[in-house]
Amino acid sequence: MSIKTANPSNIKDAAEIILSGGLVAMPTETVYGLAANALDGKAVAKIFAAKGRPQINPLIIHVYNAAQAERYVVMDERSRRFADHFWPGPMTLILDKREDCAVSDLVSAGLPTIGVRCPAHHVAQDLLMVCDVPLAAPSANASGTLSPTAPMHVAQSLGDKVDMILAGGSSDVGLESTIIDARGAVPLILRPGSITPEDIESAFGVKAEFGFTNPDAPTSPGQLLKHYAPNADMRLNAVDLQDDEALLAFGSIKFMGLTSGGFVKDLPNERVMNLSESGDLYEAASNLFAYLRQLDDSGFKRIAVMNIPDTGLGIAINDRLKRAAHK
Ligand code: TXA
Ligand code: MG
Repeated sequence: MSIKTANPSNIKDAAEIILSGGLVAMPTETVYGLAANALDGKAVAKIFAAKGRPQINPLIIHVYNAAQAERYVVMDERSRRFADHFWPGPMTLILDKREDCAVSDLVSAGLPTIGVRCPAHHVAQDLLMVCDVPLAAPSANASGTLSPTAPMHVAQSLGDKVDMILAGGSSDVGLESTIIDARGAVPLILRPGSITPEDIESAFGVKAEFGFTNPDAPTSPGQLLKHYAPNADMRLNAVDLQDDEALLAFGSIKFMGLTSGGFVKDLPNERVMNLSESGDLYEAASNLFAYLRQLDDSGFKRIAVMNIPDTGLGIAINDRLKRAAHK
């Protein structure tokens, strides 16, 4: 495995690896993806093997624009409005496969639909254009662990299982894309992300509904209960800190105390990481996985997490935290 700066010559090499059936980790604005040629069943199988991912959990494909998507899926009118408005960007649309769809059946795990995303990151765009095939790409981490938002996270999680890591900085958004089934009259959000129901309502005047499984009561495959998990145990909505815990903070910690006495603000930096001192949910999302990793590596057996408001982008952050905390 090699980590390469994403410049035109390395992007060309990455495309060659992909077109000859290999795996490349590519930067996107949400998280790093583990990319393979979606038309090549053997290459797609390597993704499942590298991640240790159950084959019943379908992958999404990435395209450089909606016209490329239409070679493989049907763009109904409602979905097209979403694509026109939110692509390129952190949104995956669930679309019907075309009858002559050349995408490997392994990608959709036998479903008649495929999740399709057009990423906004310029490196992902360039790689997609040079390859000119759709790229199947889940997050570039071992199944069930935290998604990677930096090249080093990929190297630590997958090592030699990936042929090349294209380094393109830290992922801006920091949370996986919002997955939307926009085919019906009511848009369904299957995975919350940085495109929120408020964004959808202000774009089209329709109220989206959450169709994602509550981590406390799962119903469908692919929404694994324990997901995005650190090694440490997690305690959510903490209002104080216990002796054996590190703290993932949000907002002011001025008045937060230790159960054994004293104040959290006086603790060493490696024990307290603040997602956003000013309480900015976008900043918090972009720091979430990297900070959880750092606290997990700090040796504490437990991570306490302060309350994060369950509105707007906070819904997606809390979804990931609940899955991370699930035992
Ligand atoms: O931001 C992202 O979406 C990242 C970057 C790399 O693009 N990718 C990503 O992929 O998060 P992955 O495979 O980790 O998550 C895709 C999710 C899975 O939970 C899967 O079950 C669901 O999408 N999914 C895939 N195809 C589906 C389908 N046809 N219907 C419903 N859910 C689907
Ligand atoms: Mg994932």
